Amino acid sequence: MSFPFIRMRRLRANEHLRRMVREHLLRVEDLVYPVFVTPGEGVRREVSSMPGVHNFSIDQLLQELQEVVSLGIPGVVIFGVVSEEEKDEVGSGAYDDEGIVQHAVQAIKEKYPQLMVITDVCLCEFTNHGHCGVIKGDEVENDSTLELLAKTAVSHAKAGADMVAPSDMMDGRVTAIRSALDENGYGNIPIMSYSAKYASAYYGPFREAAGSAPQFGDRRAYQMDPPNTDEALRETWLDIEEGADIVMVKPGLAYMDILRRIKDEFSYPTAIYNVSGEYAMFKAAAQKGWIDEKRVVLETLTAFKRAGADIIITYYAIEAARWLKEG
Ligand code: PBG
Ligand code: ZN
Repeated sequence: MSFPFIRMRRLRANEHLRRMVREHLLRVEDLVYPVFVTPGEGVRREVSSMPGVHNFSIDQLLQELQEVVSLGIPGVVIFGVVSEEEKDEVGSGAYDDEGIVQHAVQAIKEKYPQLMVITDVCLCEFTNHGHCGVIKGDEVENDSTLELLAKTAVSHAKAGADMVAPSDMMDGRVTAIRSALDENGYGNIPIMSYSAKYASAYYGPFREAAGSAPQFGDRRAYQMDPPNTDEALRETWLDIEEGADIVMVKPGLAYMDILRRIKDEFSYPTAIYNVSGEYAMFKAAAQKGWIDEKRVVLETLTAFKRAGADIIITYYAIEAARWLKEG
């Protein structure tokens, strides 16, 4: 049977019909909001390449989170931002129980116990060379880094984090973190692993926001090579074998094929990270009046769902939640 008996346009005739047959819906529950926290008080520093995104001191962050909570956004991811003087060769600030992330987690959980606090587990925001692990010669040494990542995760859990998200791309980090959490009594803290994380130019604005650009070389010896896709399945499979509870694809837009393959292959809870460079592009075009920001952003976030995402980590979380509420 085909035309003229079948007419695809019948079900597109009005909004009622379109809604009845709509396959994917973006919900506020799907969103996670990344935030940058820095020492001090009264600090509210806008990131120049990310309009609307700030480095906040804890007091200011707590204010910002008021709206996150009232909009019903379920969670945040915390990134620490410290000055050069607070960094060292081995990123001690990452696993200091009195570190900025740990203090932020405590303060957030105290004020908003119902908000899910996820921590990014990595060393690059705290190393003076800006790499995600320990440097030996001119390379990032895998195995000695694992111990520090595990310490970082345990320290976050001790501060009250609800979930940890390792973003370093060292081999074996999920095993190391899972074992350390379990040994320390945090067997119920889930791991959301940045499983397929690519060495991407789209992280540029984040590195300005977090002050975490590598001081020499780049991250291509540990993050994935953008042309590869089978490798993303192997990375994800390994993370699942090691005990990851949620897997993640990062960046988002240019990697939706990876997201779809991972969702189809593993049927695991899957997150996508709509990264800083994607946010910056939308903001720039919107500020020029070249795109309808609300429509473009909601269309894009819905497309992540269509491509298989259960969780969308996005700097647009607050605006998107407001737009969804408006209808
Ligand atoms: C740290 C980390 C990065 C991002 C999340 N965690 C930067 C990087 O790997 O260089 C990028 C997030 C973004 O661009 O929004 N390892
Ligand atoms: Zn890192």
